[in-house]
Amino acid sequence: MRVAMIGSGYVGLVSGACFADFGHVVTCVDKDPAKIDALRRGEMPIYEPGLSDLVATNVRQGRLAFATDLTQAVREADAVFISVGTPSRRGDGYADLSYVYQAAREIAGALSGYTVVVTKSTVPVGTGDEVERIIAETRPGADFAVVSNPEFLREGAAISDFKRPDRIVIGADDANAEAVMAELYRPLYLNQAPIVVTSRRTAELTKYAANAFLATKITFINEIADLCERVGANVQEIARGIGLDNRIGSKFLHAGPGYGGSCFPKDTVALIKTAQDYQAPIRLVEAVVAVNDQRKRAMGRKVIAACGGTVRGKRIAVLGLTFKPNTDDMREAPSLAIIAALQDAGARVRAYDPEGMDQARILLDDVEYAQDPYACAEGADALAIVTEWDAFRALDLERVRTVLKSPVIVDLRNIYRPDDMERRGFTYVSVGRPNGAAHETIF
Ligand SMILES: NC(=O)c1ccc[n+]([C@@H]2O[C@H](COP(=O)([O-])OP(=O)(O)OC[C@H]3O[C@@H](n4cnc5c(N)ncnc54)[C@H](O)[C@@H]3O)[C@@H](O)[C@H]2O)c1
Repeated sequence: MRVAMIGSGYVGLVSGACFADFGHVVTCVDKDPAKIDALRRGEMPIYEPGLSDLVATNVRQGRLAFATDLTQAVREADAVFISVGTPSRRGDGYADLSYVYQAAREIAGALSGYTVVVTKSTVPVGTGDEVERIIAETRPGADFAVVSNPEFLREGAAISDFKRPDRIVIGADDANAEAVMAELYRPLYLNQAPIVVTSRRTAELTKYAANAFLATKITFINEIADLCERVGANVQEIARGIGLDNRIGSKFLHAGPGYGGSCFPKDTVALIKTAQDYQAPIRLVEAVVAVNDQRKRAMGRKVIAACGGTVRGKRIAVLGLTFKPNTDDMREAPSLAIIAALQDAGARVRAYDPEGMDQARILLDDVEYAQDPYACAEGADALAIVTEWDAFRALDLERVRTVLKSPVIVDLRNIYRPDDMERRGFTYVSVGRPNGAAHETIF
């Protein structure tokens, strides 16, 4: 099949490359000429493990191409995917659909023959209706159907998530469109990936429900972690104790500095807005958003407390800036609020991240960047681990202790063991776990 992918960011580029790898002929289109030039030179505009090789292979085999103009790709396409951004609208938190609607207008102008237009972007319920209206109005008589196919891939594991998804959700109100979608995803049908076919509106809302539920799970365990700290219990053991219950499940029960990233923060807020508009407020998610917002800065206060209550004039080393490992995405990363809290309290911050420093430079002022974790820790009054990159799980702790001015580590991802860290001479603070002689064994 011929596919046009409109928007070549995390989702568009990964989806486009994976569809090409399934054997389809794909053109990834993006308005940003710098992005398309880079892709044509074989340079990836984002950091995503395995993406560079996947793109190179499919370009070489003639199944993947890049363009700044969508006309030809859309004219030839059986399916046109809209995978442009849907950020929070400035001021009110609704999803900003201007990129989606603009893409719909541009697609309408180029349609030729029966074409399925697929919204892969995360869009509020009812957006498909509006996309359909815009296309019909711009190109009366055009032969098309609009389908919702929300994307569930995770940055950092995007390719394997796309190729081995837990499920594929297809919202189609038209049998021909459903058949085109089945053909596109045929390799996954053959792998027996569960396909959930629903109405378009149901598919749109499924994506928000999924993200809101995951954000709720994270926030739940974070609040349990706070209680653990008050009562001397261990949140990791509780997570295991509840996660082994199949009704609960063990994933997304890692206490930490609060969720961030390009999806959960904006999608939870957008869902709240939609629900309020339809007079069905989801108060649980409203609470999740409020708790999570406060938590990020509270993690800055946790570092300050570990430094004896003040960081004025002190140097704090921050390891990890991206919202999670294996991405360079800094959108809504907890590190932003944590560093701001430390700077507000008078600290000087030096940071290191394996992939995120270029993006961080755009978003953060007055931060010094180090070339590796040890240079970051050099002479610091405390070290905060904010993102759990693998490289931070196996630090030479003896070297870290030697280069730090005072041996204080605040581990906001619980990647080290409190008893071990204390034995090594650190003042060690983590999330929701008692220090010292705590019962650490997990059988
Ligand atoms: N990033 C994720 O992990 C993830 C996961 C699932 C779903 N989503 C959803 O997918 C959508 C895209 O997210 P993303 O992270 O890939 O965004 P992104 O910002 O990385 O990429 C969007 C791209 O679309 C381009 N664009 C905008 N308007 C265009 C137009 N009219 N024509 C051509 N290109 C255009 C932009 O230049 C940009 O490169 C969002 O709705 C997001 O919520 C993201």
